Amino acid sequence: MFKTPDYSHITSQDCQLVYEPAEDTFLLLDALEKEFETLQNLRPLICVEVGCGAGVVITFLASLLKSDTLCFGTDINYNAAQLSQKTSNQNGMTVNTIVSDLVNALQPRLNGLIDVLIFNPPYVLTPSEEVGSRDIVASWAGGIDGRQVIDRILPIIPTVLSPKGVFYLLILKENKQDEIEDIMNSHGFEMAVVLQRRTGPERLSVLKFTRIDMTYA
Ligand SMILES: C[S@@+](CC[C@H](N)C(=O)[O-])C[C@H]1O[C@@H](n2cnc3c(N)ncnc32)[C@H](O)[C@@H]1O
Repeated sequence: MFKTPDYSHITSQDCQLVYEPAEDTFLLLDALEKEFETLQNLRPLICVEVGCGAGVVITFLASLLKSDTLCFGTDINYNAAQLSQKTSNQNGMTVNTIVSDLVNALQPRLNGLIDVLIFNPPYVLTPSEEVGSRDIVASWAGGIDGRQVIDRILPIIPTVLSPKGVFYLLILKENKQDEIEDIMNSHGFEMAVVLQRRTGPERLSVLKFTRIDMTYA
């Protein structure tokens, strides 16, 4: 129904430095499209994609929402922030891209104000030592259970999301969905599975978290 952003400007050289849009990227686009009505009803003012990579997802979200929405993309990789800016420009969208670890650069100013937060994290199971780089390795290196970066963002969600805010997280089966659900329950969030897909050896899911009781927000 909605057009995938044009990313024909991305060169093979870019792909040596920045995560190339892949199956997980497109699963996230499909999940956002499935959530279109929910997102429209939410009337989000501020949306953030953490780890925006080549910028296809946040550009797609900006194009879905069109109107008065401020969109930010953060990435720990400088080249990704640069490329995301190009992708949004190429598609006539306005996205503000920032080099940042998770949402650090937006805190504390945007605490409690982010209506939509998206993260397709580095989810691959790798040795811990590979986690924490600022280059292309940061695209996939997830450390133990592929959870070392995921586990850093979960406790931040209650602080940064607005009362009605939604958090979309893409995970791999091996990331242990049940444990992630328990952690988010303990922070006052409930979980729903938006989409699941098997792509080659990977079983990917897009999870959605919303506050169980908005009076605690
Ligand atoms: C799997 S890629 C996803 C890229 C893009 N969102 C997509 O779906 O195609 C993960 C992205 O997260 C970024 N990243 C990894 N750790 C990060 C961190 N601590 N803070 C911000 N971005 C991070 C990587 O540089 C990479 O661009």
